[in-house]
Amino acid sequence: MKDQIDLLLKDLTKLPQMSNVVVNVLKLVQDPGVSINDLALEISKDPSITASIIKLSNSAYYRASKPIRTVQESLMTLGIQTVKEIVLLSASKTVLNKDLKGYQLESEEMWMHSLIVAELSGKIAIMKKLPIAKDLAFTSGLLHDIGKVILTQFFPMKLFEIREELKNVNTTFTEIERKHFGYDHQEIGSKVLKIWNFPEELTEVVSYHHNPEKSEKYPVLVSIVHIANTIAIVSGIGIDIGGINQELSPFAMEQTGMTDKDLEVIFTHLPEIQKSLNELQTG
Ligand SMILES: [Fe+2]
Ligand SMILES: [Fe+2]
Repeated sequence: MKDQIDLLLKDLTKLPQMSNVVVNVLKLVQDPGVSINDLALEISKDPSITASIIKLSNSAYYRASKPIRTVQESLMTLGIQTVKEIVLLSASKTVLNKDLKGYQLESEEMWMHSLIVAELSGKIAIMKKLPIAKDLAFTSGLLHDIGKVILTQFFPMKLFEIREELKNVNTTFTEIERKHFGYDHQEIGSKVLKIWNFPEELTEVVSYHHNPEKSEKYPVLVSIVHIANTIAIVSGIGIDIGGINQELSPFAMEQTGMTDKDLEVIFTHLPEIQKSLNELQTG
């Protein structure tokens, strides 16, 4: 099984494609002196991303002060970081919004889970005044379960077996994944992000979101996403066969300074947060 996965990861044509434009935009925005014109030029190379930027920029979620007709206008009105967030959002949607039957989740639910973890990650970063940019937290949350998409897409039958096994044994989902596949969805996901040349922060989040204490370089960011993911699972947003044994890591609480009271505040606001995301889900 592990060999099959290694082969799959070598054959890049079989993997879901991530637009080059996304990788280039991520590189460009790392330069603080990047110009709006250069960014707009790069984005315009991908018509579907361009279209969804204009659509999402005009959505109630981003609340632009005036109608936006071009990528330039979007960059000028919403700012470079927000547009970067939208670029990743629209590119990830194509990749993430797949039917995930193997995980007992309809694709819509998986997408909602990714969106809510993204939104909560951004909120935690701001709420606790952490030294992590909101858009980085958002993007990390959005992509954390990318490995699940790959596994279910290629091995749906194997996942059926795993599901049966989980009913009878008391172990964590990632352990069973490792037993059957040789890898868990965190390892697969981080391998894929490396192939796509995504920044190191994002691969580390994908690698350790179930075990934040293993994070070496970016423990705060990984902890943020771990907490956001746990909140989503406990609330039944994208509850899957791996959800039942998810525990909240004390390490993550300590890294982020989150308290029980903070968690309560988030739980109270969850219905309205979910409502505000409905528009992004269909957008
Ligand atoms: Fe996960
Ligand atoms: Fe998750």
